[in-house]
Amino acid sequence: MDTLPLAPGAKIISGTANPALADEVARHLGVELARTTATRFSDGEIFVRIDENIRGSDLFIIQSTNPPADNILEMLLLIDAARRASAHRITCVLPYFGYARQDRKDQPRVAIAAKLMANMIQAAGADRVLGIDFHQHQLQGFFDVPVDHLYAAPVLTAHYRKKDLKDLVVVAPDVGAAKMARGFAKRLDASLAIVDKRRPRANVAEVVNVVGDVAGRDCLIADDMIDTAGTMTEAARALKELGAADIYVCATHALLSGPAKERFDAAPIKEVTVTDSVAIPESRKPHQLHVLSVGELLSKAIRFTHSEQSVSSLFD
Ligand code: R5P
Repeated sequence: MDTLPLAPGAKIISGTANPALADEVARHLGVELARTTATRFSDGEIFVRIDENIRGSDLFIIQSTNPPADNILEMLLLIDAARRASAHRITCVLPYFGYARQDRKDQPRVAIAAKLMANMIQAAGADRVLGIDFHQHQLQGFFDVPVDHLYAAPVLTAHYRKKDLKDLVVVAPDVGAAKMARGFAKRLDASLAIVDKRRPRANVAEVVNVVGDVAGRDCLIADDMIDTAGTMTEAARALKELGAADIYVCATHALLSGPAKERFDAAPIKEVTVTDSVAIPESRKPHQLHVLSVGELLSKAIRFTHSEQSVSSLFD
């Protein structure tokens, strides 16, 4: 394991959304997480405190902002506490940037949640943001502070390189995922297919057509996130009907909400590989689940950021 120590002056704090990932990051950096307290008032109001001196430090606060919304509030409170405790620089580390799907006003009288999130993170006092696979890469522009946007693709594709896959086709489960899938296909020396997906309403996915040749070939469906798994399981079914061989699916962020586990359990899918950007409760894990850690990736980005080195080597 890569445990090059972090240069002095940096400190890492974890919110409570995904402490296992924060521990993994700290392990790779060879440091202890800074001590914090997170408790509740009797009515549920969140209280956070940083329990050690962080004055003048280069502080990294790790928190994914998947539901419940308390995760967001806790992160904002930690940023505020750090700013008031005179941290020199605060980097908000978002392994998963939740609320990012609502990124435009595509119907009357709706919020642009992703922009609001960016505003709140900056208003709380973050000087930088470090994230992985935002729902749209352009979301970086919603922030006026520097954003380092990492890709989980190297972590995921390394996993598939070790497998003996037959005439692999990487499949984008919708047009939005085509760019990501093309990147995977290039890395894995595979060809590309695209599913034409329709969403009659939120969280309902229907496959209209599959563009590309999948018959008799192993397929890897790649997306940035899995929520209810409708997109992945409907795509898998359509591929099977077209004669696909083994079907693998992968995504960076595994929300696995609502019927996701049951859908996967019943789907013609050999393996579901995701990262640990979001903590997945045991009860929501489908039987094919395989989790890869982005801890090392984040630890390298934190080390490079702290020592003012480029993070672009992490894209390879
Ligand atoms: C859509 O744009 C996203 O990339 C995912 O395909 C979508 O959020 C997955 O949702 P679900 O798992 O509920 O189909």
